[in-house]
Amino acid sequence: MIKAQRYAVIGHPVAHSKSPQIHKLFAKQIGGEIEYEAIDVKKDKLEECIKVFLEHGGRGLNITLPHKQNVLVYLDQVSTRAKIAGAVNTITKADNGKLMGDNTDGVGLITDLKHNLGVKIKGSTILILGAGGAARGILSPLFEESPKEMAIANRTISKAEKIMIDFKKQGNLKVYEFEQLKEKTFDIIINATSVGIKENSAPFPNEIIRPGAVCYDLSYSLTDTPFISWAKNLGCKNTYSGLGMLIEQAAESFMLWHGVRPNTKNILSKLS
Ligand code: ATR
Repeated sequence: MIKAQRYAVIGHPVAHSKSPQIHKLFAKQIGGEIEYEAIDVKKDKLEECIKVFLEHGGRGLNITLPHKQNVLVYLDQVSTRAKIAGAVNTITKADNGKLMGDNTDGVGLITDLKHNLGVKIKGSTILILGAGGAARGILSPLFEESPKEMAIANRTISKAEKIMIDFKKQGNLKVYEFEQLKEKTFDIIINATSVGIKENSAPFPNEIIRPGAVCYDLSYSLTDTPFISWAKNLGCKNTYSGLGMLIEQAAESFMLWHGVRPNTKNILSKLS
């Protein structure tokens, strides 16, 4: 039986989050109930919000856009994978009151791609669109799968260049402007920009999409995201939103908090 404690996801915006539903479904599997809220907070109130939540029975937090990098400074300890990512998606309040930060996004993505969707990462060419916290969270786990080539493109090129330097130890990352992508194709294209949330269309060159490519959006929605619609309209047959990754990263967070890895198999069909 899991402990009756409070959990939440913090972001801005966060009303669309499926995390409360997912964590409650996981808790049911092991015969428990948890309180799991979605808290919308802007950066200037982030520290206070975390403090108040954890002082009032809060035991764990998921952190989502745009705070994954912002929370680092408020933590007592950060896992190696979160340090490498420079981004945190899970905070746990330890029994001694210390705040521990971790990042389960990368492992969530790899589990979804490899095990749920059967995508071959080893030996493939991969393009990551975007250079924020979401991109940082997935780079190291992708490198670990031995792709043939890894590339990153971002609207603000300096941020992609910074990532290339920060991840030098993990592997070689090619940096492109969006315009330069017109002459390139990739096996796997991952959208790590917030375009799916804020915009209605994708600002990337159409030429990068070919029918056999895998297009994966880290943003998720029960209907097609703008990135997925764009890729589908250009004939891409293998398009996936980040719902699978969301469920898998949630399972990893759940395990950190409750010591049990829930079964993720039928969760997707139960989400509304
Ligand atoms: P997260 O932590 O989720 O990655 P973020 O740090 O705010 O969020 O990063 C958002 C990403 O989406 C960035 O790569 C951003 O590009 P810039 O670095 O140029 O700002 C990208 N992004 C957001 N809106 C975009 C748009 N309209 N077109 C292209 N890229 C966009």
